[in-house]
Amino acid sequence: MTSVWHLANPQLHDLAVYEPGKQIEETARELAVDPSEIIKLASNENPLGPSPKAVKAMRAALEHAHLYPDGSGFYLIKAIAAKLGLTPKNVILGNGSNEVIEFLGHAFLNPGDDVITCQHAFIVYKLLATAFSVRTIESPSPDYQQNLDATLEAITPKTRLIFIPNPNNPTGTLVSQDAIERFMSRVSDNIIIVFDEAYFEFLDGPPDTLRFIRDKRNIIVLRTFSKIHGLAGLRIGYGIAAPDIIEVLHKTRQPFNVNSIAQAGALAALDDEAHLRETKRVVDEGRAYLQKQFAEMQIRFVPAVANFVMVDVGDGGALFEKLLHRKIIVRPLKGYGLPQWVRVSVGTMEENKKLIGALKEVIRV
Ligand SMILES: Cc1ncc(COP(=O)(O)O)c(C=O)c1O
Repeated sequence: MTSVWHLANPQLHDLAVYEPGKQIEETARELAVDPSEIIKLASNENPLGPSPKAVKAMRAALEHAHLYPDGSGFYLIKAIAAKLGLTPKNVILGNGSNEVIEFLGHAFLNPGDDVITCQHAFIVYKLLATAFSVRTIESPSPDYQQNLDATLEAITPKTRLIFIPNPNNPTGTLVSQDAIERFMSRVSDNIIIVFDEAYFEFLDGPPDTLRFIRDKRNIIVLRTFSKIHGLAGLRIGYGIAAPDIIEVLHKTRQPFNVNSIAQAGALAALDDEAHLRETKRVVDEGRAYLQKQFAEMQIRFVPAVANFVMVDVGDGGALFEKLLHRKIIVRPLKGYGLPQWVRVSVGTMEENKKLIGALKEVIRV
């Protein structure tokens, strides 16, 4: 049989496959241990699990799994819009917020265009751009902080989308409201600005980007149920934008892109204030503990604002392997051009303490 590579779209030759955090089951198989012994701090998931209200709603929704989902996402979109003080026409659901990123590619990118993001940005933007034969320009991020003045300087006549992950993953740093205001006052409305706010609910005093939607600017804000709501396994997120942008994006999506179980779970999770509050409390406490321990151990880290911290360990790949043998999964960052670093998600306090204990053993070796 001949290879199909000569038939495949040429840009796919250079397209790296997204490398997710290593899975618990896979690690348990490799180490021949029970999966319950493995601690996963690799994908910025909710350490407390899903909202119990979401689990209850999903169990009930299973009874109707023979029916197609509501493709319009009527109830969930209505609830999200009400919570944000916007209208249902301002919201689109995605199979994870990653799918909304893909809608943006279908809607706005053509071969030869440019997209801009910061250096060390969430990698999916670059994967999307490559898949669409589009160049990714990475504006410099000195000290791992996003610099929106550098982003403005990087704009070319071919720039169609600018991705601003806020906070960014994996660096964990935040762009301030002042920097956003300055940027928005200078950027052209011929470019769609994407504020990726996957970790929004973890922030104290988060920036207000929805105000630009009310002002009818060409922006889209991305949020997700994968992080603080604890529903990463369901794949559900959303985009918020002016109605004409949302209308364009709807044309690019499949009819039933978000399944009925995910819609039911997300609807219940949205209002589970107790679960949100407790998750934020555990994450705030855990992040403070981890950062204090890193400082005491004289391990360099980038002060973070969400549920993960990026740590300079000299050789991220080697540390990842050593921790893996101690049944702890973290995320090496070679693919982000950060081979010295690993990213650790904040876990429960018990998990955080085990991580620090293992790190002390490993670093002594
Ligand atoms: C910055 C950022 N954006 C988007 C996502 C994707 O989230 P989702 O699970 O909603 O596709 C992630 C997930 O890690 C992320 O870190």
